[in-house]
Amino acid sequence: MMSTTTVHDVDLANADNFVPAVPHDMFDVLRRDAPVWFHPRSGEVEGFWCIVKHADLVQLSHDHGHFSSSVGGITLHDMREEDLQLQRQMMLQMDPPDHTRMRLLVNKGFTPRMIRRLEEHIREVTTAIVDDVGARGECDFVVDVAAELPLQVIAEMMGVPDADRGKIFDWSNRLIGSEDTEYNVSRDDAIGAGTEMFMYSTELAAEKRKQPADDIISALLQAEVDGHTLSDTEFNLFFQLLAVAGNETTRNLISHGMLALIEHPDQRQKLMDDRSLLPGAIEEMLRFASPVMYMRRTATSDFELRDQTIHAGDKVALWYIAANRDEEVFEDPHHFDVTRDTADYVAFGGGGPHFCLGANLAKLEIRVMFEALLERLPDIELAGPPQRLRSNFINGIKHMPVTFTTTG
Ligand code: HEM
Repeated sequence: MMSTTTVHDVDLANADNFVPAVPHDMFDVLRRDAPVWFHPRSGEVEGFWCIVKHADLVQLSHDHGHFSSSVGGITLHDMREEDLQLQRQMMLQMDPPDHTRMRLLVNKGFTPRMIRRLEEHIREVTTAIVDDVGARGECDFVVDVAAELPLQVIAEMMGVPDADRGKIFDWSNRLIGSEDTEYNVSRDDAIGAGTEMFMYSTELAAEKRKQPADDIISALLQAEVDGHTLSDTEFNLFFQLLAVAGNETTRNLISHGMLALIEHPDQRQKLMDDRSLLPGAIEEMLRFASPVMYMRRTATSDFELRDQTIHAGDKVALWYIAANRDEEVFEDPHHFDVTRDTADYVAFGGGGPHFCLGANLAKLEIRVMFEALLERLPDIELAGPPQRLRSNFINGIKHMPVTFTTTG
């Protein structure tokens, strides 16, 4: 059936519109009728440009000269200048050359060797998770399976002791869930979670500086580029960034990936019959779900794009979720196809300086988890409707009841 949505119906600032499902009808209309569109003010969110075409999104992601991550931050809600000043010490909200220096520093914690060393830990955690739920025959897939792995991995990377791991989960939920009433997070509560995390990571850093271990956190604290090392504030903010960027995203990808397999039994069967399709299937899950739906940039000077003028100071949303379904790049884009050529998907960003630092780690976690799920819980089915997160930023599932045959 043809969608009856028109540009006048589009409201991407109201998070309510993302609760039943991602409003793909709105993105479809924009790609077709208004590919570079100024979204009028909605609620508390001042107007902003929507970038929905794949080619435009890739172009702007590389053009940090015209489109800054630092000037106005990376979400559509405008922040107070004093909050922004602190956030700007987080790499996601820096522009080159500051960003380049920071990225070179933290790269030292994310080398392929470091990631490979985590693989064994990822396998152990995955086995423990699947053992635990396997005996029960039913669970909340999000809370019991998908959320656990990334949380444990970040905690391991950052050297957080077992007893404190639940805190990281709680803090990252409070930091990001402020639009969803289930988490009952006020703006102050979110700031409070940030402060608690700050105090925690300060102590952790002090201990690791005193007694460096052979782990990523110690590598980060010792790393040096051009005579610079990470300041305490930079380290704390990086810790916070990892706790949010590494947890919510991977958790939601695993949940959406499982849901896509459940809802597309033919695709699931293909994967069961030929496990060598798994790496491609994971990229298709990333394209299909786009756990991070957009990142914001702010124009630093006037810029022409497809006959529109984006003015200096304007907010610009790079909608990965829309570019990942651009029919000019992906044939039949709303179809989930584990054998598709997904080479150009933009779930980790459209390239350029901020391309996801954790992409390889995330893909490793997801692969290990699906290897275990396909092998040991091959008949997972939904036991009730999934509940979505109220957010236009993170494509999130909060709960997803499932049943399966118990494992011995
Ligand atoms: C499925 C999982 C993930 C998705 C979809 C995802 C997505 C993204 C996106 C869209 C960006 C911004 C790209 C841009 O602005 O151009 C980003 C940046 C980043 N991600 Fe991820 N991410 C995932 C997992 C992870 C993990 C596991 C980690 C770390 C453990 C991580 C750490 C980061 C960091 C540190 C940045 C900022 C990089 C910079 O500013 O240079 N991400 N990610």
